[in-house]
Amino acid sequence: MIRSSLTAAIGFTALIFGPTTAHAQDCDVPGADPWEFTEEQVTDLYACMEDAMQQAYSSGDNETASAYRDWTATSTRPAVAGAHGERFLYTFANDVAAEQYLRFAENGVTMPVGSILAKESLKITAKGEVRIGPLFIMTKGDPGTAPETADWVYSGVQPNGQPMKFKQSFCHDCHAAFEGQDALGYPLPEVRVTN
Ligand code: HEC
Repeated sequence: MIRSSLTAAIGFTALIFGPTTAHAQDCDVPGADPWEFTEEQVTDLYACMEDAMQQAYSSGDNETASAYRDWTATSTRPAVAGAHGERFLYTFANDVAAEQYLRFAENGVTMPVGSILAKESLKITAKGEVRIGPLFIMTKGDPGTAPETADWVYSGVQPNGQPMKFKQSFCHDCHAAFEGQDALGYPLPEVRVTN
């Protein structure tokens, strides 16, 4: 019983955080360990992938996927933080969210209603190949609309443009740990955009 639910949990995690669609890319991937990439290598890889990523996410009808690239980038480059499947992560904030988000405040944060954070992801496989990962999205609803998740709605777009399916608790059980920050994890300190 315990083992089967554990297996199910792992399978579920792999479904969400494992590599999704395979894209043959001509981009130079410097190795199989994303933690070892230099800043320049990450920047070069992203420069090679960014058009394909935007096209992939916006190939369905998700509004955020078509809009987020015009929003405010919250870090100087993608970075691997560990969570979200050790992918390189790059978060964009819409106009409603940007000012408050970019303070990276640690206490008493309440993001304005209508805030949207959209986070691109890139996965390096064990073979040292690059895969486009999901676009992860958090949208702040009106007070009381989603009391169990601090009024955040979690969603995601797969690289084929289609919506991801998961339970809200899957995302929020982890994000809720960012107490005082309105459930926001923020990019790693060394890559945060300072204004
Ligand atoms: C195991 C913990 C964990 C889980 C599960 C998780 N996240 Fe995150 N998430 C983080 C961390 C840590 C960050 C900040 C790291 C970074 O972006 O560099 C983050 C950042 C984000 C951001 C950027 C906004 C922010 O918090 O700063 C979005 C959007 C996001 N996650 C969406 C999701 C969605 C959607 C899911 C569910 C499919 C999910 N997350 C599941 C840990 C998690």
